[in-house]
Amino acid sequence: MARTGVETSLTELAARIAAAADRARGSGRFVLGIAGPPGAGKSTLARGVRDELNIHAGARIAEVAPMDGFHLTNDRLREAGKLARKGEPDTFDIAGYLATLRRVRETAPGQQVPWPTYSRELHEPVPGGVVFDQHTIVVTEGNYLLLDTGEWAAVRPLLDQSWYLDVPRPIIEKRLVRRHIRGGRTAADAKTKVEHSDLSNARLVERTRFTADLVLRKSGRGYRID
Ligand SMILES: Nc1ncnc2c1ncn2[C@@H]1O[C@H](COP(=O)(O)OP(=O)(O)OP(=O)(O)O)[C@@H](O)[C@H]1O
Ligand SMILES: [Mg+2]
Repeated sequence: MARTGVETSLTELAARIAAAADRARGSGRFVLGIAGPPGAGKSTLARGVRDELNIHAGARIAEVAPMDGFHLTNDRLREAGKLARKGEPDTFDIAGYLATLRRVRETAPGQQVPWPTYSRELHEPVPGGVVFDQHTIVVTEGNYLLLDTGEWAAVRPLLDQSWYLDVPRPIIEKRLVRRHIRGGRTAADAKTKVEHSDLSNARLVERTRFTADLVLRKSGRGYRID
């Protein structure tokens, strides 16, 4: 039997977060975490929710805090012999991610907190790529937010709400190959990277699906809640 789900829109999803943030109103900032496998569309969803929140509020109340900003630099990865495994759970500055997430969550709106972004052109993190200021809502997104092992396990308690963005494997594979090619790899290189690295990361992340508050799938122009 086909699984049935509730259809929802970006507007409704953002309204959920606005309401939850209102209920939770404390001295710090509200944190939404969006997890999911590589290429699921997490960054796209995070930007969509941010934009909806800001449009509805008529002010910049939300901003995206990408986990990808905490990629270790290529120099650091090369030194550690991990460059070929870039993207795996131990190729990020997890301590930095946790400390900055804690800081942005615990400080009051108005206190500036710089957050690094990641450049897909330079293939490097960009320090202070975004700065939290008056924002009251943080949308952090990345593969490993819901892992329950090692240092990553400390992320979950810092999320006021968590979503998992699900997507069929064949779609992820196609998207990732296309993106690696756009990033400068040959078609053969792109396929190897996807098969040997991205998909094993995807399998690791898929195990965290059931711990999210909400599981979403893209459906038509909106999303479906599973
Ligand atoms: N809802 C969607 N429909 C069609 N294509 C999409 C959708 N969301 C994202 N994409 C495309 O899929 C690719 C991956 O999207 P995105 O960068 O948002 O994923 P991601 O989960 O952040 O990936 P990563 O884990 O590698 O950072 C992009 O090329 C994007 O344009
Ligand atoms: Mg992304």
